[in-house]
Formats: sequence, structure tokens, C-alpha cells
Amino acid sequence: MGRSSKDKRDVYYRLAKEEGWRARSAFKLIQINEEFNIFKDVTHVVDLCAAPGSWSQVLSRTLRGSAEDPSSVKIVAVDLQAMAPLPGVVQIQGDITKTSTAHDIITHFQGHSAQLVVCDGAPDVTGLHDLDEYVQAQLLLAALNITTHVLAQGGSFVAKIFRGKDVTLLYAQLKIFFTHVTVTKPRSSRNSSIESFVVCKNYRPPDGYIPTMVNPLLDLSYQGSWQDLEGVNRTIVPFLACGDLSAYDADMTYPLQMEGQASYRYHTPTQPPISPAYSIALTHKHTNTPIHTPITTTASNTPLHTQATTTPIHTQEQDEEQHSAM
Ligand SMILES: C[S@@+](CC[C@H](N)C(=O)[O-])C[C@H]1O[C@@H](n2cnc3c(N)ncnc32)[C@H](O)[C@@H]1O
Repeated sequence: MGRSSKDKRDVYYRLAKEEGWRARSAFKLIQINEEFNIFKDVTHVVDLCAAPGSWSQVLSRTLRGSAEDPSSVKIVAVDLQAMAPLPGVVQIQGDITKTSTAHDIITHFQGHSAQLVVCDGAPDVTGLHDLDEYVQAQLLLAALNITTHVLAQGGSFVAKIFRGKDVTLLYAQLKIFFTHVTVTKPRSSRNSSIESFVVCKNYRPPDGYIPTMVNPLLDLSYQGSWQDLEGVNRTIVPFLACGDLSAYDADMTYPLQMEGQASYRYHTPTQPPISPAYSIALTHKHTNTPIHTPITTTASNTPLHTQATTTPIHTQEQDEEQHSAM
């Protein structure tokens, strides 16, 4: 397969490289903001599940770019995986299901609350739709829990959601905390993907609500009665496509040379992953060792910040696969 074939098949992948975004997901946040104006008056923001960092890039470029004093903008990015540094972004390598992560975020804000929390979190999908939807819902609820620790009254929360058959339960839970909840599908998100995004505005936790990470929300039964809610008890959340209709369609193939645009030139990915999950498997492949053989001098025991430069364990093709998937 030629280097440019992916550029042709996925216009947002190509544009991401041309504009210097680490992943095509950048366009999802840009299009959500165009529709919902979520960046307005935001100086403190948390980016949950942030690696490799394209949403943090959008936040950094937009918020710091428009601020009189860029240093007044605080962006905290959290992910299980390490990511390469970004201007004005503090990174926490941690698990969003842990209380300690909420405390780390609060420490970085030095007593301030965030006006916006975004979460593009996704578990490793198995292909078993029910399971994937369930795990994704749990991740979203973990993000909501952490949000209740750090978000200011009136603030906004944006998170990836899989619109499966039990999504009504999630809507109902979000409506407990926010007066406005909308579901949106940016043009840059493939139609073939089950993902959408909830945009929750005006954070108003119930009177007396005490944020906790061992929240009963996570333990509610996902089956049964939620499906039977009717009338005023059933939360109907409006659905909006976002991204101008003239924006590129994520499922279409476009010619490399587009009318009225500069000559096409191939770009390498902006920031290859610094510690990809597939690195150990690749090392086994390259050294021709069976998968159960312990690898002693590989990425798994090389300090994170040196992996990208000292251990040639991932190919450009692999990096492109990862970036093109987001
Ligand atoms: C689709 S990627 C995010 C892409 C990112 N928004 C960007 O624009 O570059 C999903 C991320 O969720 C992270 N993730 C999944 N479960 C997590 C958890 N429990 N805590 C923190 N991060 C998690 C993964 O490590 C992965 O980096």
C-alpha cells in the first residue's frame, strides 16, 4: 500500500498532518466548539484521556492563542499513557477511575475549578458491541465522577459516548448534573463509527451532592427498568450533527490534489506515539522470538522518555495505523 493511499481515503487524517495535529480527532473538538461555543471564557480546562494529545493541542492553540496572558490558561491533560510535551499543558499519567487522579488535577489548579472538562476516552474495543458499549459507558461515568470533583458551577462537560441501546441510562445520569445535555456527531467522526459526543452545559449538581469516586452511579444496574421509562421520566436528549455541512465527509474518499488548494505533498505523522501498546509484540516479531519469551532490552524496561529515540520498535506504518484510527 502506498504511503499516500491513507491520505486519499481519510481526508481528516491527511489534514491533521498538514495542520500539525497529532491525531485526526482534533477536528472533532474543533467542530464541537464551532457548534456549541464551549471554549467561551474558559481559562481552566481538563482533558481526560488525552493521549496522543490532539485535543490538548486544540485547547492550547485556541485558549492560549486568544488569551491576553497565555500563562493565565491552565490545561491539565490526563491519560494512562505518556504523551510528548505541549506548550502550556500539564500532564498527569494516571487512571481517570482513581480518586488520586482527581486530587492530582485539583493540586495543579491550586484551588481553582475548571470551567470545562473534555473526555475522548475509549477503551480498547473488542468488537463485541455490548461489551464495548458497557465499558465505554463505565469510562464516561468515571469521567463524570472526576468532573464532579473539579468542575465549577455553570461549567461544561464534553465526552465521547457510544450510542448503544442502553444509552438512555447515561442521558438520565448526565441530566442529574447538567441542565442542558445534547448529543452530537461531528462531521469528522465516521458515520460507520458508533461514537458520538455528549455536550453537557450548566453544571448544577443536586443540592448536598458530595463528589466521590465510589459513586453509586457506577453500580446502578445497566439492564432492565431504564429501558421502560416513559413520559416525563424518559430523558429525551436532542441530537445535533455538528461541523458545517460543507465540511469534508469523514467516510468519503477525496482526491489527493483538491481543487483550489496547494500542491499535494506527503506529510509524516505530527507526533508518533512515544510508547505504543503494540511495541512489545513488534519487538518479538523483529527479533523473531516467540511471544512468551521475556524481552530484556526493549521498550517495556526502557524509560518512557527515551523509547522514541533509542528503541526503533515501531514502524512508520504502525504509527500511521494508530493515528488514522482516531
Ligand atoms: C481516542 S484516544 C484519545 C485521543 C485524544 N483525545 C487525542 O485527541 O489525541 C483514547 C485514550 O483514552 C485513554 N484511556 C482509556 N482508559 C483510560 C483510563 N482509565 N484513564 C486514563 N486514560 C484512559 C487511552 O490511553 C487513550 O489514549
